[in-house]
Amino acid sequence: MKVIIDTDPGQDDAVAILLALASPEIEVLGITAVAGNVPLALTAKNARIVCELAERPDIKVFAGCDRPLIQPLVTAEHVHGKTGLDGPTLPEPTMALQDAHAVDWIVDTLRVHDPGTVTLCPLGPLTNIAMALNKAPDIASRIARIVLMGGAYFEVGNITPSAEFNIYVDPEAADIVFKSGAPITVLPLDVTHKALVTQARNDAFRGLGTRVGTAVAEMTDFFERFDKEKYGSLGAPLHDPTVIAWCLRPDLFSGREINVAIETRSDLTRGMTVADWWGVTDRPPNAHFIGDLDAQGFFDLLTERLGRYA
Ligand code: BDR
Ligand code: CA
Repeated sequence: MKVIIDTDPGQDDAVAILLALASPEIEVLGITAVAGNVPLALTAKNARIVCELAERPDIKVFAGCDRPLIQPLVTAEHVHGKTGLDGPTLPEPTMALQDAHAVDWIVDTLRVHDPGTVTLCPLGPLTNIAMALNKAPDIASRIARIVLMGGAYFEVGNITPSAEFNIYVDPEAADIVFKSGAPITVLPLDVTHKALVTQARNDAFRGLGTRVGTAVAEMTDFFERFDKEKYGSLGAPLHDPTVIAWCLRPDLFSGREINVAIETRSDLTRGMTVADWWGVTDRPPNAHFIGDLDAQGFFDLLTERLGRYA
């Protein structure tokens, strides 16, 4: 499977990238950075730090949009730390950022590959993807699938009472993506809040005894203090790796084909994913909305794949 990872690393984004790069079923065509958890300069740098941690300096990393389509950027240093990747001490990247803008490269890549062969994996705000769709509407029908982390239904919000961070940061972009007609799979908070790094799972990462295993344990140690201290959670919710896990093992997940609309107007509920889980409207399905996962199966897969790094 050929994928483009669009991301705002972020410790959980980093683990998602490591999972993808460890998985031979996935060919990462490139990584596109977007502003989100931290500003673009840091997400573009963090993406390269993670590629070098994976010993894959050959991966092409592109910088994309430095702010949402309309509203000012909202960041999440309160969760991810000042660098976005707080926790492990990792060297500054030496690999270069590509010259092309991420949006142009996404468009060009979708146009040079056969239709239906490239999957987009957005792990942050949807600004780059929406910009690409706006610039080149023909790409919508060429996308194999957009598998994204974002939104919520029962779990509602983690940045406002009604919105999940990735959608909240750029609701106008999310609106464009959900109206694009491209096949979409959504990994919402309902799922990712079940993918918790318990102490035993963290020990399993550290127990790999490798540079990657230790770095992932240190990332989740840092990242989980927020959910543990604030909510008494059992550990860090590993949001973004569920996107890659779904690409690898969709059998670990279950969901429904439903309509998802994005609230862009209300001050109170801006960025809400209005998910018609119970089919109470006649709005046609536009997304495969995941509702549950086999959490242990997910962690077994992740730990086994991370264990492939020397
Ligand atoms: C999402 O927001 C970010 O903080 C995480 O990286 C994840 O993509 C979870 O709401
Ligand atoms: Ca993210």
